[in-house]
Amino acid sequence: MIELGLADPPLGIPPEAGFLAALLTTVGFLIGAAITGRRRRIGAHARFVLAAVASLGVAIWFALALGELYDLEAAGDITPIHLGLARATTAVYLWPLLTGPLAYKGLIPSGVHRTGAWLALVMTVAATVTGVMMLLGAERLP
Ligand code: HEM
Repeated sequence: MIELGLADPPLGIPPEAGFLAALLTTVGFLIGAAITGRRRRIGAHARFVLAAVASLGVAIWFALALGELYDLEAAGDITPIHLGLARATTAVYLWPLLTGPLAYKGLIPSGVHRTGAWLALVMTVAATVTGVMMLLGAERLP
């Protein structure tokens, strides 16, 4: 029987290349989501958001595969900081995802969505920066 561990690299793509590609794709979709959100082009906005969430999922999958190849503890204090931030950011995504449709229907003030949306975007940048710092400080396992 084939066992597919969560951390197995998808499609045999090297995790470093896959992670970088998925991360850049996610950033592109998030920029699209922010621009269309600000312009109130909600149809395009919702599509960019869905694409960003899907590509973020792929990036996290590659990141888990990367974690198997590196001794992350060797990076020191930045490792728990990044891992905590990454989990918190994933949870904060629920805020704009839930409030977007509610703001669209006029059930809640749109400011509630805007606050969560910008917080999720700022936390994504912080998680990316600390993640890169962590990988730079980590040692690749033999
Ligand atoms: C992670 C998910 C999401 C992010 C990061 C996000 C981000 C944003 C951003 C940056 C804005 C512009 C805010 C501003 O003008 O300062 C916005 C506006 C908006 N978004 Fe989202 N969004 C998300 C999900 C959704 C979803 C699923 C919907 C559902 C239709 C939605 C509906 C809207 C609407 C209606 C506005 C205009 C609000 C207004 O009138 O001020 N968003 N969003």
